[in-house]
Amino acid sequence: MRISVAIDGPAGAGKSTIAKLVAKKFNLMYINTGAMYRSVALVADKNGLKPENKSEILKMIKTLEMHFENDDLYLNGKNVQDEITMPHINSIVSSYASIKEIREELVELQREMSKKFDVIMDGRDIGTVVLKDSKFKFFLTATPEERAERRFKELKARNIECSYNEILKDIIRRDYEDSTRAIDPLKKAEDAVEIDTTGLDINEVTDKICDEINLKLNK
Ligand code: DC
Repeated sequence: MRISVAIDGPAGAGKSTIAKLVAKKFNLMYINTGAMYRSVALVADKNGLKPENKSEILKMIKTLEMHFENDDLYLNGKNVQDEITMPHINSIVSSYASIKEIREELVELQREMSKKFDVIMDGRDIGTVVLKDSKFKFFLTATPEERAERRFKELKARNIECSYNEILKDIIRRDYEDSTRAIDPLKKAEDAVEIDTTGLDINEVTDKICDEINLKLNK
């Protein structure tokens, strides 16, 4: 039987760092669904397509081959992980991710991946939509200030010019957009285990998740 683990939560809650560690422990493929939305935003933006140019974007998505290798997203054979995590993409991605038709295309791709491989997926709608039947669902949170601090340090470490206040503003705006959009908003699934990661280190959160998975696997 295939194992699928769902991790949802707002930007900067530590989802991807933790999902990668849990993936290693259980030999799962890590699928970063935010990276898939970011790739669509990247290519659309490069081609001058605004979120309202729906039909052109849908045609464009059909030409994109996405897969994950060593936790990075490859788009038509090219590793685009650095490009899609630049501040410019942060500022435009929500508006593409709120389009119903774009979500339908990407959810379909994500479900196909979960049929082929044992996966751990992170995102906003994994427990509520993409992997609705998963037995392993987690919802990570942390205060906006702590999440902004984490993103700030991450960008600084990559020598990317940024300001803490701008990042905090962007996080608060994205929380609002992601949780109030009409289609598949950011929401904890009723059967998800919620973990507030404020003040916890990465290993503590990873251990909590691994313990919970082991408990259910051994039932
Ligand atoms: O997790 P992230 O910050 O890389 O996500 C980028 C954007 O994509 C974010 O604004 C929310 C959106 N997203 C989504 O709507 N559904 C997902 N499953 C994953 C991300």
